Amino acid sequence: MSAVDIQLTVNGEAVAESVEPRTTLVDFLRETLGLTGSHVGCEHGVCGACTVLLDGTVVRGCLTLAIQCDGAQVETIEGVSDSGAISDLQEAFRRRNALQCGFCTPGMLLTAQELLAHNGTPSRDTIREYLAGNYCRCTGYQAIVDAVESVAQARAKG
Ligand code: FES
Ligand code: FES
Repeated sequence: MSAVDIQLTVNGEAVAESVEPRTTLVDFLRETLGLTGSHVGCEHGVCGACTVLLDGTVVRGCLTLAIQCDGAQVETIEGVSDSGAISDLQEAFRRRNALQCGFCTPGMLLTAQELLAHNGTPSRDTIREYLAGNYCRCTGYQAIVDAVESVAQARAKG
């Protein structure tokens, strides 16, 4: 099938590219734009490694086609890292040993950021539930919940 021209905004920058209709958003970000912070794990929408923000909402980059993002705003872990939007979460993950290999970490951070934007001080059960779609093979999750909870409390205090 022939390539399709798309225009979108990625991390605040205008992007115009020609993509195959079958190209997933995560492959487009990684292979065409060189934004390799979003990872590819299961490619079936299960693990959450490919999580990115599409018009402000977390989506699976492996279940979203690049052509569906024509005209959209996409933010990746690179964008929110560079803007400082999640610096407190990143610091808490480091301090609480909430990352080891780091494969799941970009998806965890983006999902945690979305949770905290909608629910300022979630319970530990709510944090677990919200992150249930993001698999981590290393940490056992306890430290991740600790990190997210500590940031929620710190942000609530202002
Ligand atoms: S790679 Fe997309 S959910 Fe696993
Ligand atoms: S830190 Fe390795 S998969 Fe989560």
